[in-house]
Amino acid sequence: MPLTVVILAAGQGTRMKSARPKVLHSLAGKPLLQHVVDSCRALEPEQILVVVGHGAEQVRAAMAGQDLTFVEQREQLGTGHALQQCLEDINPGNGVLVLFGDVPLIRSDTMAQMIEKTGEAAVCILSFEPQDPFGYGRILRKQNQVQGIVEHKDANEEQRAIGECFSGLMLIRGDKLQRLATALDNDNAQREYYLTDVVGVAVADGDSVAAVVCDDAREVSGVNNQQQLAAVEALYREHQVEHLMADGVKFYDPARVDIRGEIIAGFDVEIDVNCVFEGKVVLGDDVRIGANCVIRNTSIASGSQILPMTLIDEAQIGRNVSIGPYARIRPGSELDDDVRIGNFVETKKAQIGRGSKVNHLSYIGDTEMGSGVNIGAGTITCNYDGVNKSKTIIEDGVFIGSDSQLVAPVRVEKNATIGAGSTITKTAPADKLTISRAKQVTISSWSKPVKKS
Ligand code: UD1
Ligand code: CA
Repeated sequence: MPLTVVILAAGQGTRMKSARPKVLHSLAGKPLLQHVVDSCRALEPEQILVVVGHGAEQVRAAMAGQDLTFVEQREQLGTGHALQQCLEDINPGNGVLVLFGDVPLIRSDTMAQMIEKTGEAAVCILSFEPQDPFGYGRILRKQNQVQGIVEHKDANEEQRAIGECFSGLMLIRGDKLQRLATALDNDNAQREYYLTDVVGVAVADGDSVAAVVCDDAREVSGVNNQQQLAAVEALYREHQVEHLMADGVKFYDPARVDIRGEIIAGFDVEIDVNCVFEGKVVLGDDVRIGANCVIRNTSIASGSQILPMTLIDEAQIGRNVSIGPYARIRPGSELDDDVRIGNFVETKKAQIGRGSKVNHLSYIGDTEMGSGVNIGAGTITCNYDGVNKSKTIIEDGVFIGSDSQLVAPVRVEKNATIGAGSTITKTAPADKLTISRAKQVTISSWSKPVKKS
């Protein structure tokens, strides 16, 4: 059965108390809505419609270029009304899977399970039993058969005691869609057209309604306020950490790590406490990450170690590299195998060749550095004249004495040595010692000043 996915994302999210549309709030470094879009892709739907309304322009911009069809719901008159806006755009005959943009942890396996379970039923819903059902729609059953869904605000005392709730996922058979979606009214506590009423309509028509009970309530947690957003972030993190541990990653304390994206890890990786990982991070075999590191969109090859308090952003790190403690590796840094970066070193747009060392207190930016180079403490590449950035080239085997400045554009040729304390503004030739500081003199006529009386 060809499938159309409809993601409802038009609501304001009043309870977030935020100017940003709710579905754009970030979970694990990407918008809530993006999580939903990403998981439904596994089903290979023929079309994905996203219903936008509140902050529509922002939502469209954040989700641009992903082959999504945006449908505008000008007035947000409820989840059923949101679905109604899509009727013209849905390929006729397609089954429709409705997802909520504020239920971000939903897995594609669960969606697939619903498709399987639907069979001949007109509608299939995904239900779950949350710890606290407050606010959720309750599933009404008679002799175990689903009869309808009653919203929390419309439910009586007895109905509110029901633990089984609606997750927000609903699959509607293609040939029933028009009838079910157009039969809704807004005769309820919120004066809204409820998607959930589709179930009651189907039952009244004599159609059967199937239900899949999601055994992991965490997966369908909705995000309506900051507390729930934080809770979902924690669930996401727990899930990632569990997976990584199952794959053999050692966390010194699984409760003290933040994963705001995805980590792909090899064997025998060790991660000390209080590290933050953002975006996509790839860690090769035997990589060790010390305490309090922040690592973002970076790959680190096998055997490398990152010592405590190090920040790495958009970098590529080779094998058996050592970085830190207290290093800052900025975007565009490419460190080859066996490189050593020590404390208080900053690199940016820098290629550092195999086995080169920058061990203390340096800034290396817009630089191409060869292999076997030794950069003395306090060396600075002066890459910026206040307007333009220029490049520093340091060839293989160079030795730069401590506290030198390399004023770019500048080249230090192969095996050259720069004397400590030099300011280099012209090419330093290969194999030679180049030095720019004034010669040391001792003034024999000088005497210490004395205090005037
Ligand atoms: C909804 C369900 C409730 C379910 C819960 C699960 C309804 C009537 N209620 O309640 O049964 O237990 O989700 O999390 O469906 N939206 C639109 N247009 C609108 C209104 C909402 O696109 O006019 C979107 C929102 O952006 C959001 C989603 O639909 O992504 C759900 O809306 P929300 O107002 O959060 O519904 P809940 O009160 O959580
Ligand atoms: Ca909600």
